[in-house]
Amino acid sequence: RLVSMTDMLQKGLKGHYAIGQFNINNLEWTQAVLTAAQEEKSPVILGVSEGAAKYMGGFKVVAAMVEALMETMDITVPVALHLDHGSSLENCTAAIDAGFSSVMIDNSKFPIDENIQATKAVVEYAHSKGASVEAEVGSVGGEEDGVTGGVIYADAQECKRMVEEAGIDALAAALGSVHGNYDGEPVLGFDEMKEISELTGAPLVLHGGSGIPEHQIKKAIEYGHTKINVNTELQQVWTKKTREVIANNEKVYDPRKIIGPGKEDITATTKAKMREFGSSGQA
Ligand code: G3H
Ligand code: ZN
Repeated sequence: RLVSMTDMLQKGLKGHYAIGQFNINNLEWTQAVLTAAQEEKSPVILGVSEGAAKYMGGFKVVAAMVEALMETMDITVPVALHLDHGSSLENCTAAIDAGFSSVMIDNSKFPIDENIQATKAVVEYAHSKGASVEAEVGSVGGEEDGVTGGVIYADAQECKRMVEEAGIDALAAALGSVHGNYDGEPVLGFDEMKEISELTGAPLVLHGGSGIPEHQIKKAIEYGHTKINVNTELQQVWTKKTREVIANNEKVYDPRKIIGPGKEDITATTKAKMREFGSSGQA
């Protein structure tokens, strides 16, 4: 039932909207994001970092949980299960073998030739299994789940080479976005973005989607972004609610009453993002 990202991203590119990648951490998160997608009639990408996969018991547990939930929740919108910031061919292969329909291979710390070669190997395996591949050129700043980096802007010619030589399905061209919170307004390289989009024709991926104001999101979509990754904002709304629940009820100890209420907030925030990205009603 899971699908790769290829089709949804190509449709987004033609229709000038973006599909959200929402990172999941556990059962509740997965339920909350799937609920949002179904209610919004939106395609969705469930992002799973290597750290989150490990936390949930491994790729097999994650894939089985997502598939079972899709069945029991009657999810009919397209859902891709995507390894976020995969660090090696081995991990990408393991995720695909476990049932993931998409992977990101993040070789952004390597020189471009190495990055392209290593990405190509992932593409060969993934495509033979019907899975899609996202690669990163340049470097997204900030910190997420132990993946750290300073901001390095993607080079347009390197992006073109990555798309043509490695045959990827989506390109994360780093242009000033960061994981986690921004200090003030994000400064995204819109001129470079336009150039890279026109030069490559590839669906672009915006990492560090939390905290980017709507007018910048709209511009990024106009300039070829068809996938926007959101993690931090969902974590923040869930944590806010959970703190309130505990603070307002000193006697509560049932974990379901503590971690459950925040699900509504994850769903509400995810739905708002889907509307902002224009993916609502596209499934
Ligand atoms: O890979 C996931 C993201 O790029 C999410 O970034 O936590 O800043 O929303 P964020
Ligand atoms: Zn990211």
